[in-house]
Amino acid sequence: MARLAVNVDHVATLRQARGIDEPDPVLAAGIAELAGADGIICHLREDRRHINDRDLGLLRRTVKTKLNLEMAGVREMVDIAVEIRPDMVTLVPERREELTTEGGLDVSGQADHYAHVAGELKDAGIDVSFFVDPSEDQIENSHRCGADIVEIHTGHYSEARTEAEAEARFERIEAAVERAAALKLGVSVGHGLNYANVKRFGSLTQVEEYSIGHSIVSRAVFVGFERAVREMVELVKDF
Ligand code: PXP
Repeated sequence: MARLAVNVDHVATLRQARGIDEPDPVLAAGIAELAGADGIICHLREDRRHINDRDLGLLRRTVKTKLNLEMAGVREMVDIAVEIRPDMVTLVPERREELTTEGGLDVSGQADHYAHVAGELKDAGIDVSFFVDPSEDQIENSHRCGADIVEIHTGHYSEARTEAEAEARFERIEAAVERAAALKLGVSVGHGLNYANVKRFGSLTQVEEYSIGHSIVSRAVFVGFERAVREMVELVKDF
């Protein structure tokens, strides 16, 4: 029985498009929890393009399930995390010009840096997840650097243009999930998952959590946020 963590960044993106105070990602988080979500995720970016410091502070005070702060492993963000104390942090790479997170962390290339960042967060009592591509090398290095959890990047799978391509990419995810589970890491997956392509994950019983944002917010425009979350909860809870 897998958990669903709902990313509310996209609600904030809509708010920022008007530069006013609605729709509020904090309200969305409350509705997601009422609809059965097991956690709330927000990404505080260096440029504050969607979630801002006010949102993060209020989410910390109101989220009753589990607050997962996505952030780059940089000094400013580590200081904010240590002050705000989300339940967990997911470290992601961040480039100012990207539309969304484009790939996993290069843990293998910057092991000392990530081990240090993970250590500081864990000393503050925060669980640490590394967002990585489905590469066994990256997963083994995440384990060495002290990650508690790995979130395996499913974006390339979700962008596959043919069934054969999707299947080949899924097999890489499957191998990565197995390696992470063998190392006793917590295993999450996320990026680009929607109500159709998530079904393929039903066989991956070691995946504990699904991190999903865009497809839920997209569906919410037509069916309402509560129903959109509930339908995704129903899908992943049977995995
Ligand atoms: N996981 C990570 C690390 C992400 O950066 C994102 C996008 O914010 C997601 C999951 C959710 O991806 P999507 O919005 O495509 O569901």
